[in-house]
Amino acid sequence: MTGPVNLREVEQAARALLDRVRDDYFAGGAQDEVTVRGNESAFARLALLPRVLTGAGDPSPEVTVLGERVSMPVLLAPTAFHELAHPEGERATARAAAAAGTILISAMLSTVAIEDIAAEARKVSSEHEPPIWFQLYLQPDLGFTEAIVRRAEAAGCRALVVTADSPALGRHERNDRNDFHDLPPGMNCPNLREQAGEVRNVVLSPEISWRHLEWLRETTSLPILVKGVLHPDDARLAADHGADGVIVSNHGGRQLDTTPPSIRLLPRIADAVEGRVPVLLDGGVRRGTDVVKALALGARAVAIGRPVVWGLAYDGEAGVTKVLDLLRREIVNALALCGYADPAAVRRDLVEEVSWR
Ligand SMILES: Cc1cc2nc3c(=O)[nH]c(=O)nc-3n(C[C@H](O)[C@H](O)[C@H](O)COP(=O)(O)O)c2cc1C
Repeated sequence: MTGPVNLREVEQAARALLDRVRDDYFAGGAQDEVTVRGNESAFARLALLPRVLTGAGDPSPEVTVLGERVSMPVLLAPTAFHELAHPEGERATARAAAAAGTILISAMLSTVAIEDIAAEARKVSSEHEPPIWFQLYLQPDLGFTEAIVRRAEAAGCRALVVTADSPALGRHERNDRNDFHDLPPGMNCPNLREQAGEVRNVVLSPEISWRHLEWLRETTSLPILVKGVLHPDDARLAADHGADGVIVSNHGGRQLDTTPPSIRLLPRIADAVEGRVPVLLDGGVRRGTDVVKALALGARAVAIGRPVVWGLAYDGEAGVTKVLDLLRREIVNALALCGYADPAAVRRDLVEEVSWR
């Protein structure tokens, strides 16, 4: 194999190519970035306790998520502004996700319109409609929110992912230092374009509440996932308010700093929802073993954020494909070494907490 052999090496290669301002935007997080580091290091504090002689056979990493059969338990988390990473932006990401047979959660703040992203994904999967979910920041202007939802539906998106952890924007001091607060000329967020042609700004409002989720539930028949759940009570409330899934996430440490690592909260959240809705997780997933740990602790699947952007910056569509291929191979290997063939069968007793010293 030539080039990077794991996600960390893709990261290194990508970051060497990006200018300082963009590298800081992608890699950075809120304030002291305690949570950014914690997400990754928490996986290292979990050990795997494999079973032997299970005769499980060859692993198949396929799983079903909200009725969607995907090639592996890894989705592409919504990340904004892909044209900052590569001139093809989300077009390249969409092709790589479709070719890999997994779900792209397309960000509302994409630099390519959702209709064009969906069209691009269709180019590489002629047999079936490639699964795209749409990430939504509920806007206080419900008429505008509804217009965006209708666009996502018309584009063929198969679920809505409501990001709930953003009643305000996290404080990114790297962006302050770089005075980076606007997209460069020529880039914008076409999903926010109104019929009149004007591109609005996104509003992150502390007034958004469960009532808005109820409104959304009545406004669309698409499945709704709530992303950014950390408290077990909120996971329960999401299910009570008609959510079809929850994503345990601290936004990759980009919103409230010093929240616990998402993997730490996963078992409590899985217990709280009692199987009423599937639980997904993102934050710090960099290895196939990380994925298997999340499955063991109650996740149906995980999502990756920065690794996708780094793949894109490293080599466009081929770079994202590389990231997804590397991870798929690692998952198959990890499952085999743990004595499992089926990701859905992985049990909680596979994971132990350790301090390595
Ligand atoms: C550059 C960047 C942009 C992001 N933009 C969004 C966004 O627009 N909406 C959203 O819900 N999450 C966004 N996220 C958070 C991701 O969806 C995800 O929660 C996080 O990246 C997972 O952590 P990881 O990067 O360690 O995999 C963003 C993350 C990054 C790194």
